[in-house]
Amino acid sequence: MKVDGRDTRPIRLSGDGKTVQVIDQRRLPHEFVVLDLVTVDDVIMAIQEMVVRGAPLIGVTAAYGVFVAALNAEGRSDSFAYFSGECKRIKAARPTAINLIWGVERVTAVVREMRDDAARIDAARVEAGLIAEAEAENCHLIGEYGVEIVEAISRRKKGKTVHILTHCNAGWLACIEYGTATAPMYAAFDRGLDIHIWVDETRPLNQGARLTAWELGKHGIDHTIVTDNAGGHLMQHGMVDLVIVGTDRTTHTGDVANKIGTYLKALAARDNQVPFYVALPSSTFDWELKDGVKDIPIEERDPDEVRYVQGLENGAVKKVMISPPESKAANYAFDVTPARLVTGFITERGICKADAEAIAALFPEKGDCF
Ligand code: MRU
Repeated sequence: MKVDGRDTRPIRLSGDGKTVQVIDQRRLPHEFVVLDLVTVDDVIMAIQEMVVRGAPLIGVTAAYGVFVAALNAEGRSDSFAYFSGECKRIKAARPTAINLIWGVERVTAVVREMRDDAARIDAARVEAGLIAEAEAENCHLIGEYGVEIVEAISRRKKGKTVHILTHCNAGWLACIEYGTATAPMYAAFDRGLDIHIWVDETRPLNQGARLTAWELGKHGIDHTIVTDNAGGHLMQHGMVDLVIVGTDRTTHTGDVANKIGTYLKALAARDNQVPFYVALPSSTFDWELKDGVKDIPIEERDPDEVRYVQGLENGAVKKVMISPPESKAANYAFDVTPARLVTGFITERGICKADAEAIAALFPEKGDCF
């Protein structure tokens, strides 16, 4: 996507094809900084500290992490064993987004077939690049399908503003291009539909207020940041026509893990008959787990992310404590919205209902798990 007129992606290879470079999302929107990921420790740190975040981007970073592991294994006497151990470490960086495991496995499956270090490095670079391009195209298609939902509401409202609420950042920063939840918004805006986005701030790390607002603003899309708890009120007063969120892992039965607070939005949407859609590429489906509430691993992060807040003061990014120093805090990073509260999924293959049969009909090649 364009940032101030320049094509920008959250991850890329340097010109010589040897270094993985990422936008440091911890510092947006106040500072635009690009970091080099040179070692597997760098890759793991970037995923854990949320330099990169969002399920599809975690998957692509993990894929490029395999490339970094192959580079660093070159010339060692135990190079394949070392490489395999490093890939295992990448897979464990964060627990909830299934794209992490998916990205590592897709690249290692190709690399494993190669006989020497140089061939492994090349194969990993090529496969990671293919994954990045495929995810960009998946998000493009999610936009093409999802925009039909926005168009239908716009027609019903006779062209009046369509108000869409979103949670966290499921934008291009979380993917490669377009985003998942935001792809239909960009497509609608580019087709000239009148839209306005309610952006949940998304405590504790404020991905909505910092990242979604920045992205939408750069594209010229009208948006308003609201506190995480405002959604119910807005829906009760007819101020939300549609909710679209992303997901970190969705079971093939339709249960959706996404940023903490998503479940409460889905409950409010159901109570107020507001359609609640989840946008995702197929890499975010979990084809094994059946019961998302019971079985999806929910990350618990450092409680200090709750006790402190980061912002800009006199031109410098600062962190300040917002709680009594002696108070405990708990930081559950995700929750699970049961399939029964989801109106539908927007995928690269089209829109479907949130149930096992409808998902299976879109992805028949995954047949084994149904
Ligand atoms: O903790 P984060 O910022 O990685 O969580 C991200 C989300 O919850 C997104 O909504 C999700 O990954 C969808 S990204 C297209």
